[in-house]
Amino acid sequence: MNRNIRTVDDVLTLLDGLFAPGADRWTAAAGDWWDRFYADRSRDVPFFVALPDENLAGYLDRGLLTPGRALDVGCGPGRNSAFLARNGFQVDAVDISATAVTWAAERAEGLGVRFRHGDAFTTEGSYDLVYDSGCFHHLPPHRRVSYLALLDRVLEPGGHFALTCFTDEEGTAAPDAELYRRGGLAGGVGYSRDDLRWIFQDLTEVELRRMTEQPAGSATFGRSFLWTALFRKD
Ligand SMILES: C[S@@+](CC[C@H](N)C(=O)[O-])C[C@H]1O[C@@H](n2cnc3c(N)ncnc32)[C@H](O)[C@@H]1O
Repeated sequence: MNRNIRTVDDVLTLLDGLFAPGADRWTAAAGDWWDRFYADRSRDVPFFVALPDENLAGYLDRGLLTPGRALDVGCGPGRNSAFLARNGFQVDAVDISATAVTWAAERAEGLGVRFRHGDAFTTEGSYDLVYDSGCFHHLPPHRRVSYLALLDRVLEPGGHFALTCFTDEEGTAAPDAELYRRGGLAGGVGYSRDDLRWIFQDLTEVELRRMTEQPAGSATFGRSFLWTALFRKD
């Protein structure tokens, strides 16, 4: 069939295809890529450590977040899912990589986290907190539409959305249109402070700052090439 655009979803799927030439679906191609990424757990990858993000731990310490229902988007090996569960949250966690979900479930054994292998954008439910550490900057630009729809659908009024993502020094600063010309995300999309404020303008900013670099031996994870942001849905 040569005419396959009728809905907005059809357009999003077509654009996905520009980032996964030859694959049936972008989500399958991305899942395979992340499976390979997680295959060797001994690799020296900063976020393979079993430590929670410093900003997340800080939000709890400062009373900015209180326990409730949480969704960990792109949970990877589950370090933040496990932390949230240990701190009284009922946690659902989703990742497009089956290998990541297997690892995360091992790490969070006995904590009651409900892990799901799949595309975050198909998540249904109702959450007081949506947490994303490092997933958003790996999404192609048009999937911001799906991302905002997810927040709109699953985040309760009064609930919070918290994000860590690449600054535009760490991730690519190339304009969105250029990413489509190249057919790739150049290792991850960089965002400026103003980009994040513009994209998440329907939410109220509680805090937006660089993550604080954590020294060896810290109980939390922190790298200063990431933004950390906390927004509230009013
Ligand atoms: C940089 S890793 C971060 C993992 C974890 N949040 C952490 O900080 O340890 C990004 C994760 O996002 C996941 N991901 C990417 N696109 C996704 C999607 N559409 N739905 C669910 N997970 C996705 C990847 O499989 C990967 O595990």
